[in-house]
Amino acid sequence: NQDSMTVPQVQNLTIQRLCNQHVITAVNGGLPGPLIEVHEGDTLVVHVFNKSPYNISIHWHGIFQILSGWADGPEYVTQCPILPGTSYTYTFNITGQEGTLWWHAHVHWLRATVYGALIIRPKKDNCYPFQKPDGEFPILLGEWWNSNINDVYNQGFANGLLPNNSDAFTINGQPGALYPCSSSGAYNLTVEQGKTYLLRIINAALNTQLFFKIANHNMTVVAVDASYTAQMVTDVVVVSPGQTTDVLITANQPPASYYMAAHAYASAPGAAPGTGFDNTTTTGVIVYKNSKPSTPVMPALPAFNDTPTAFKFNSNLTGLVNGPHWIPVPLKIDEHMFVTVGLGLSPCAANATCLGPSGMSFSANMNNASFQFPTKLSMLQAFFNNVGGIYTTDFPDNPPLVFDYTNSNNGLNTSILTTLKSSKVKKLKFNSTVQIVFQNTALITLENHPIHLHGFNFHVLAQGFGNYDVVNAPKQFNLVNPQIRNTIGVPVGGWAVIRFTANNPGVWLMHCHLDIHLPLGLATAFVVENGPTLSTTLPPPPSDLPKC
Ligand code: C2O
Repeated sequence: NQDSMTVPQVQNLTIQRLCNQHVITAVNGGLPGPLIEVHEGDTLVVHVFNKSPYNISIHWHGIFQILSGWADGPEYVTQCPILPGTSYTYTFNITGQEGTLWWHAHVHWLRATVYGALIIRPKKDNCYPFQKPDGEFPILLGEWWNSNINDVYNQGFANGLLPNNSDAFTINGQPGALYPCSSSGAYNLTVEQGKTYLLRIINAALNTQLFFKIANHNMTVVAVDASYTAQMVTDVVVVSPGQTTDVLITANQPPASYYMAAHAYASAPGAAPGTGFDNTTTTGVIVYKNSKPSTPVMPALPAFNDTPTAFKFNSNLTGLVNGPHWIPVPLKIDEHMFVTVGLGLSPCAANATCLGPSGMSFSANMNNASFQFPTKLSMLQAFFNNVGGIYTTDFPDNPPLVFDYTNSNNGLNTSILTTLKSSKVKKLKFNSTVQIVFQNTALITLENHPIHLHGFNFHVLAQGFGNYDVVNAPKQFNLVNPQIRNTIGVPVGGWAVIRFTANNPGVWLMHCHLDIHLPLGLATAFVVENGPTLSTTLPPPPSDLPKC
């Protein structure tokens, strides 16, 4: 089965949003870009033609890329960018997974407008492990800036500061009726009384975790990050950038119109200079067929800082044991890692205008290593061809300093917060099992960080607040039916524990999926060595792989 997309073109597009015309970078003339639908077992071939004025690369978020690491997409990690006027063909098999994923640009902040849904249906003749829905709809939550996104990026980061907050959130590319000049064109979903629908909710926002709610309708969660869950009924979904959540809704209310709405879950609004948040609300409308036109009912969204609601949602999810693609938790651990994630300060680059605090620039780090992307060669090319000097394999398993990680008095404590830029990665033997405790730090500000791992799903064993307790936390590990994800929102002022098996050779980025933190260095990568046989060895790159 080969599904070939015809000529996806990345190019400039003029669109009307929030009362003005804007020129954005878009795929095939749409925002969001095209929906890609495949079946498990298919080979997906996507020819990307870059007719935009910017460098581009596309990441297939959540796809395992078994032996096809050359198609993963992050710039300077698995490929050099596709230059304007050139093309690259991504080819990969889709095996061992099904559900809702998505694709997005993986250069600077271009994913603000270069993204779309990627839906993997079960193999022919296989069914969902839940009632067959009467209809299915992708709900892409996005984040919109009125200014050119590359200008926003450059103005912020160039000066050691942070870029501006967004101007709106969107549902399927549209801000919706609560914004100026935006009611016509808002996303509308028509339902029939008594029927059940599957909503595939994707958080494609750059920097904002979102609460999502539908007036007067409960939702039943059936999957997250393309992994089935035990069914969980909820009136609100919380979803971090990078994550997806599939819910069933039944049209069981009086025929009328109902808003679906999303706004920020901002765990620490405005705690640090320049880190306020966009407090606007995006809406779409669910309209019952044959209902009289009416003003839609508005849901009451949780308060922006409602951490208990977010934590309850995230920690109550469990995996669907023995459902399709269920994998038991690895019980023997080869690599134990404890990784602090948080902000910091770094010395300013020579010749930069540097306006950050304490004469330094804002940065971010894992275990005090602030990740610097290479520029001369991708890390995967360096791995494949054994080229030195592109990365080093000394990413530490533990932070260099033990301190009270979540004490909010840490503030701008420069003695523990200065980090240097480096390209440190962690090397893993093929098939080794890894446990990582992520610990948020409260340097500069208390924040939640959605950490995304490329190339693998992981089990989420436990999560909690405060400093990780080495003695007591393991007693709470769920080794029986934990949720399986590719992106974990490490709770604000807290920690989370994951496990995965490194069964795919290549270079796999792990990073905060808030785009405001990725360029600051909140990343590292795993270099997974080849296995013993040809079928566990990374094949050579495609001949059109972009060169630096
Ligand atoms: Cu969805 Cu590295 O990202």
